[in-house]
Amino acid sequence: MRWVTISVVGIGGSLRAGSQSERALGVVLAGAAEAGAKTTALVGAELVLPFYDPGVGERTGAALRLVEALRGADGVVLVSPGYHGTVSGLVKNALDYVEDLREDERVYLDGRAVGCVATAAGWQAAVNTLSALRSITHALRAWPTPLGVAVNTLQTRFGEDGECSDPSVPDALRLIGRQVVEFAANRAATDG
Ligand SMILES: Cc1cc2nc3c(=O)[nH]c(=O)nc-3n(C[C@H](O)[C@H](O)[C@H](O)COP(=O)(O)O)c2cc1C
Repeated sequence: MRWVTISVVGIGGSLRAGSQSERALGVVLAGAAEAGAKTTALVGAELVLPFYDPGVGERTGAALRLVEALRGADGVVLVSPGYHGTVSGLVKNALDYVEDLREDERVYLDGRAVGCVATAAGWQAAVNTLSALRSITHALRAWPTPLGVAVNTLQTRFGEDGECSDPSVPDALRLIGRQVVEFAANRAATDG
């Protein structure tokens, strides 16, 4: 078996100080790192990009960084807050830039595992946002991990270092990170 370093890129969070979705993303990436991956997080202000315009070829530095990170990723983690019942505009606009991978040999996120997590101040938006992220993953020709997590932030809070009021939640988030890495490692071994 060929030994490769798996690269996992996490995208998400919000512009809010103390963003719960950003903290949740950090826990998923910690799980990926424990499984041996090199991780990169693009969060909050790093996702402030011009509205994606298919007719405009120029890219800002931040947009190029996002696209190149995703192009080189073996696995991806998406974490969005639920805004009015679904994925926030910040996260969705960032994901629209995956369109720049349309002409790649490995089109969009083809063949990659994507771990999805949603946070919201209630179950309805949390679950629907998780479901939306998993649908977007399918549209991008990728594989949602078996486990996804919806976090109700009225009941569960993350502290500054990712510590959580409900220890079962970080356990589940780290498992998502491991699932992303396991899938990527299996693909790498098969493609060998
Ligand atoms: C513009 C906006 C819309 C929101 N809409 C919903 C919603 O429809 N349902 C819900 O449960 N929470 C909603 N929330 C609450 C957030 O989803 C929740 O506080 C989330 O944990 C915020 O994530 P963050 O800490 O990463 O910013 C909304 C918050 C904002 C700012």
